Amino acid sequence: MAKPRVQFICQNCGTAHARWAGKCDACGEWNTLVEEGTSGGIGSGPAGLRSSRKGRPVTLTTLSGEIEEAPRIISGIGELDRATGGGFVRGSALLVGGDPGIGKSTLLTQAAAALASRGHRIVYVSGEEAVAQIRLRAQRLGAADTPVELAAETNVEDILATIAEGKRPDLVILDSIQTLWTDMADSAPGTVTQVRAAAQAMIRYAKSTGAAVVLVGHVTKEGQIAGPRVVEHMVDGVLYFEGEGGHHYRILRTVKNRFGPTDEIGVFEMSDKGLREVANPSELFLGERSAKAPGAAVFAGMEGTRPVLVEIQALVAPSPLGTPRRAVVGWDSARLSMVLAVLEAHCGVRFAQHDVYLNVAGGYRITEPAADLAVAAALVSSLTGLALPADCVYFGEISLSGAIRPVAHAQQRLKEAEKLGFAQAVMPSAGDEQNGGSGQRAFQPATLSDLVVRIAGSKRRDADD
Ligand code: TYD
Ligand code: MG
Repeated sequence: MAKPRVQFICQNCGTAHARWAGKCDACGEWNTLVEEGTSGGIGSGPAGLRSSRKGRPVTLTTLSGEIEEAPRIISGIGELDRATGGGFVRGSALLVGGDPGIGKSTLLTQAAAALASRGHRIVYVSGEEAVAQIRLRAQRLGAADTPVELAAETNVEDILATIAEGKRPDLVILDSIQTLWTDMADSAPGTVTQVRAAAQAMIRYAKSTGAAVVLVGHVTKEGQIAGPRVVEHMVDGVLYFEGEGGHHYRILRTVKNRFGPTDEIGVFEMSDKGLREVANPSELFLGERSAKAPGAAVFAGMEGTRPVLVEIQALVAPSPLGTPRRAVVGWDSARLSMVLAVLEAHCGVRFAQHDVYLNVAGGYRITEPAADLAVAAALVSSLTGLALPADCVYFGEISLSGAIRPVAHAQQRLKEAEKLGFAQAVMPSAGDEQNGGSGQRAFQPATLSDLVVRIAGSKRRDADD
């Protein structure tokens, strides 16, 4: 009999190594290699079938033909349905990832309760908490009386046998994939091989029965336990549940969706009775603004199809250090360096002797390049000590030449700004698209220096008034 082969698998990135090493050469993480058996892993199939089986031909088909609209089950929790692209898709697997304690179990308990009370069969399997704990949470959420079927179990084969009984469930929630283990793999629960094999088994179950499966996964920074990243490519959709410590709101962000748009967000607020939907996130992120403080600019952003207004705060202060500090929260620091460089090179604004701090209010994270203009405005405002007009929004991308480049969805951004009482906008000139439209005053600088001149000149204008 052949000696069972062993492999060392990086728990951070999943790369297999022939021998142990302190550092994974694929991802550069230290101490992440764990010995795992190769038998029974992904792709090897059940032990009995591993001998040379003859392939069976499948029927090839064409690209055109009948299509069915993905059948969905709608939870009625608007923000969740928005993030999933209109409800959970039958026969699909969805991964909900996030830091421990962010509220994944809370969200899914609420979703399970909402779906069950609409007459769907929902099975909630928890490998992390005891039944009593889950009941306690359900009570707190006011969901205790809904017909959700509950189990505390971690073995995949047992779970599959359990849900095969009775009517096929509409949705199966597995909290979390890190606790699941299958007889098919002989590594410890939580290792890459187990997580992959367990996820694979549940995905196969979803595809073959038409039930929707939700896998919960903890994101771990240390890579001690296999993170959800290793199953991202296997599932049909990936949602990340995010939030900043110290803030009560949570964002459910669509990262991957085979059945709908990505870049959607759902916004929630964590309260003592669970997660509450936030239908108008702009109001939340704008918070309590003080109109007269320099260094704050409101950015009219987009999240998927939805406009979101956020305040960008900059603090530019003389630096005692030889190399001034640059610190960014909520935005890309490389992008900040770029905006600073453009301001220096093309607008004559000097930051070399100044520390620069940039913060996106409320702990929100911006990924759009359209925020460039708002960042530049906040920086110049802080440096000059001149407050920007309180009723003005900013958006536009800055190119390295200092030109302001158009961005998508200008009309939607303006409409949202108008709804929230912003009467002015600083934006790229939009070519044929008419500006402002409905009573908003729009300033459309061709280059960044036009904006700098306008901000610097605002003092004189104030004095004239
Ligand atoms: P949980 O859903 O258990 O997080 P996860 O499954 O992502 O690990 O939520 C944990 C946090 O949420 C916990 O710190 C308590 C808080 N919480 C509330 O503030 N209100 C509530 O109604 C509930 C159920 C939880
Ligand atoms: Mg949990």
